[in-house]
Amino acid sequence: MVQAGSVITIEARAKINLTLEILGKRPDGYHELRSIVMPVSLTDTLALTTTYAQTAMTITVSPGVDLTKIGSVDKNLAVRAARLMQERYGVNAGARIHIHKRIPIGGGLGGGSADAAGVILGLSKLWGLDRPREELMALGAELGSDVPALVHGGAVLMEGRGERVRGLFGDASPAACEGFWLVIANPGLMCSTPDVFRKWRGCLTASPSLLHNMTSSIRTSDVSAAAEALHNGLQPAVYEEYPGVAQTAAQLQDAGCLGVLLSGSGASVFGLVRDEAHGQEICRKLGSGLWHVLAQTCPVV
Ligand code: C5P
Repeated sequence: MVQAGSVITIEARAKINLTLEILGKRPDGYHELRSIVMPVSLTDTLALTTTYAQTAMTITVSPGVDLTKIGSVDKNLAVRAARLMQERYGVNAGARIHIHKRIPIGGGLGGGSADAAGVILGLSKLWGLDRPREELMALGAELGSDVPALVHGGAVLMEGRGERVRGLFGDASPAACEGFWLVIANPGLMCSTPDVFRKWRGCLTASPSLLHNMTSSIRTSDVSAAAEALHNGLQPAVYEEYPGVAQTAAQLQDAGCLGVLLSGSGASVFGLVRDEAHGQEICRKLGSGLWHVLAQTCPVV
């Protein structure tokens, strides 16, 4: 029996793609991907409350997050995740979802997917469903390509359309593996993911040792090696179509980041930095004219 009024709070982490290879177009119109996805310490805070009524949602935002970019409630991934859970598991309770957004909307940081993943994990507990993580990941794949990776958590290798996800280190997740410090910046514009994929022309092929190099740099917390191995096959199309994104990347590079990359399909870019102090120095150089945040990757679940 679900108890109305029970509350759970979740920090839903954004993600970056340290590598993103586009391997080709599939007959279903999607693209075959191979990507190392890593959650970061930039989060949306979700407060989920059980109700007897329908699913309802409220949103507040941090400075720099543009509330006007949030679409209708019915299209919101977090609400859709709750409704999918209700339907799939025959739950007759509802949920009130309050989201405090810090992750820029439409920014290639998986904010909507993070909220959906948080709702799936949170309601599984709150409604006493306690479903296995693999099942919840498959449910997440019905909502969007980035959701399974964020339901899994930690550093993952994502393949297929995004639905095939496994921990980068298998079961032997290195407990001592530290995160990288990074500065994430957003030029305040939105890139349309379908448009970006449509513009992809397969012009940038990755080195065959890419996966190995990035995996071992994460395992050994070697940020310089990770900076060398950064790769995003969508980057040329985005920089050409949205010069403001290329300009933001150049600002991060000029400020002294070790390596800079487009996150997902944009518009956010991130720069890896040596350590926290280096990140703070870069944030000072960027000043207040550009939205940016200092964060850390979260390789271990
Ligand atoms: O799955 P999701 O809703 O996140 O995808 C948004 C859009 O990105 C899709 O409609 C598709 O145009 C493009 N996409 C793709 N191949 C993928 C993932 C996304 O072409 N593997």
